[in-house]
Amino acid sequence: RGTQRRDEMLRAVLLGPPGAGKGTQAVRLVEKYEIPHISTGDIFRKNIKEGTELGKKAQEYMNAGALVPDELVVDLVKDRLQQDDCKNGFLLDGFPRTIFQAEKLDEFLSESNLKMDIVINLQVEKEALIKRLTGRRVCKDCGASYHIVNIPPKKEGVCDICGGELIQRKDDNIETVENRINVYEEQTAPLIGYYKEAGSLVDFDGEASLDEVFDAIVQAIGEQE
Ligand code: AP5
Ligand code: MG
Repeated sequence: RGTQRRDEMLRAVLLGPPGAGKGTQAVRLVEKYEIPHISTGDIFRKNIKEGTELGKKAQEYMNAGALVPDELVVDLVKDRLQQDDCKNGFLLDGFPRTIFQAEKLDEFLSESNLKMDIVINLQVEKEALIKRLTGRRVCKDCGASYHIVNIPPKKEGVCDICGGELIQRKDDNIETVENRINVYEEQTAPLIGYYKEAGSLVDFDGEASLDEVFDAIVQAIGEQE
């Protein structure tokens, strides 16, 4: 069942605008390939919740829909990638997000004699992104993600997985969403060309159904050498 990669390594990046489905697909991919899910957004949100120094620094940028400065992100990810559980691969979600971050990641990988297997580029039009993000609900406790229309929980306002309360992310209001999309266009979209040139980028129609997107990604991973 396409599990040929299980004993091998998978090092992958999920790239795409806010609301493209990175987090949604990541949850399924890391289960299948048994690798850690490294979401810089989740790491920052956890730090904000716990009131750490990093959380305090990141908070204002995130609430405005701006990027957190590179210097607060790069070392954090490099440290994370050096932990034991990343030995058999990892899935990066929301990192890199600037050309600078991508260059630092490349430096780190080549110093460690590693290479990225695939950069998964999820493509979704702006109109759909806005609908998705303003309709998203996330579990306060386990972080699972839903959509009030597309992917509703079995019981309104309650997480299917852990029974936690479903809330709206602070940056999922319309003004912040529009700003996040603009920031993506300006600062993150240039990574598409960067990774295309490196030969590791594969495009996916992120507007297809959850299962269709997942199956297409798994197939593409199987085809990478
Ligand atoms: P982050 O948490 O990474 O947010 P994001 O990139 O804006 O992306 P989202 O998490 O909003 O969207 P997603 O693609 O994961 O979509 P999802 O699967 O949830 O970053 C937040 C902030 O942190 C940034 O703004 C920045 O400030 C900071 N930050 C993080 N990393 C940084 C970095 N490297 N450098 C600097 N700053 C950084 O899906 C969205 C919705 O659509 C859900 O409701 C879902 O149910 C639904 N959906 C998903 N797939 C489908 C489908 N196929 N069909 C229908 N609906 C679907
Ligand atoms: Mg996400």
